[in-house]
Amino acid sequence: VDRDGTRVFDLRMRQGTTEFRPGRPTPTWGFNGAHLGPTLRAARGEKVRVEVSNTLPEASSVHWHGMRLPAEMDGGPHQTVRAGGRWSPHWTVEQPAATLWYHPHLHGSTEKHVQRGLAGMFLLDDEESGRLPLPKRYGVDDLPVIVQDVRFDGDRFDHAHRRFQGVGFLGNRVMVNGTLDPYREVADERVRLRLLNASTARTYDFGFPDDRAFDQIATDGGLLERPVEQRRIRLSPGERAEIVVRMVPGERTVLRSFPLRDGYAGALERRFGGGHDSFDILQLRAARTLRPSPALPDRLTAPELPDAADSVKERHFDLALTGINDKPMDMDRIDEVVTRGTTETWTVRNDNGMPHNFHVHDVQFRVLDVDGRTPPPALRGRKDTVLIPSGSRMRLVLRFDGTADEDTPYMFHCHLLSHEDRGMMGQFVVV
Ligand code: C2O
Ligand code: CU
Ligand code: CU
Repeated sequence: VDRDGTRVFDLRMRQGTTEFRPGRPTPTWGFNGAHLGPTLRAARGEKVRVEVSNTLPEASSVHWHGMRLPAEMDGGPHQTVRAGGRWSPHWTVEQPAATLWYHPHLHGSTEKHVQRGLAGMFLLDDEESGRLPLPKRYGVDDLPVIVQDVRFDGDRFDHAHRRFQGVGFLGNRVMVNGTLDPYREVADERVRLRLLNASTARTYDFGFPDDRAFDQIATDGGLLERPVEQRRIRLSPGERAEIVVRMVPGERTVLRSFPLRDGYAGALERRFGGGHDSFDILQLRAARTLRPSPALPDRLTAPELPDAADSVKERHFDLALTGINDKPMDMDRIDEVVTRGTTETWTVRNDNGMPHNFHVHDVQFRVLDVDGRTPPPALRGRKDTVLIPSGSRMRLVLRFDGTADEDTPYMFHCHLLSHEDRGMMGQFVVV
């Protein structure tokens, strides 16, 4: 914290090597360390500044996914940090407690940069959530779980796309926080997992082999109104969820991803899109005696969600590999102009035969309906990224309360990174 009370972080983008397997160094990229990045943390109301330096051999950028902040600080494709360059974005945290993340967003290279290891979590706190009896000892009963699939070719990462894999890169192994075959010893009765799908293309359906129930307490942008009992939780690239798992003394269980039942146009799309795959994600090993944890509160918060009744404008977005609304991304074209302080309804449709998702910068939106029906409980909280399965349509309500800047756009895009890189992205300005 510097003299005027700003919380300052240093992030150096660098090359290095990482031994995912003993004695076998793999070239990787990371923030500060050789792979991934530190967990940054700030509270609502705090001023934040990040001193980014790029010691990579090429340009990159750092985007604060899920954060409300001025477009100039957003770290999207217009805020390039050249090789050897520096960038010092700063903003005030003006949103509820949440699990956000940061990653590069250079147009055309996002997949490559994230795959090499550039990603980290950015946690936000607030007073209200601080008072709740939730597991909150970071690294003890409150654990970051960054999920990424990888493939090795000898000692190197293999980033090649396989044939027919329209969704993009799919790995054959899964890492958590950059660790293969991860396990975690747990000494508390309740453990909170902050799940982040930081994979480039793969959607996971998380659950446990014994089909036990767990509580979902948060979506992308913060706490739900109340804990929701779940047995499965589906996250597409970029999405987050916080869950609380109750442990049995002495047990070993595993967070697993299960085959995806739907979301593909047909059997072939499902097969080549990773729909049949199942992975053990993270083993949890409970101590023989566990510290008791307080029961979860019945009510968590009143989520700050836009109201559809306030909506003054409708827009439509058609997702396709060739671009959104048939327009591939153009850095020099502004696709949408929205008015600061207004609420809009965006209909997003996927008739493209494969799963896509939809992410909007600067805002946390409400999912109004899914194919005309009330969204399931997992989609009733603050969201910035949502899976749009093939053949479906969602209506989102967004309120643009941030900063106006007619010259600097924010992005909306599919967060399957190879789709984004090839142009499934558009730009909007808030004026
Ligand atoms: Cu996580 Cu536009 O990105
Ligand atoms: Cu983002
Ligand atoms: Cu896509």
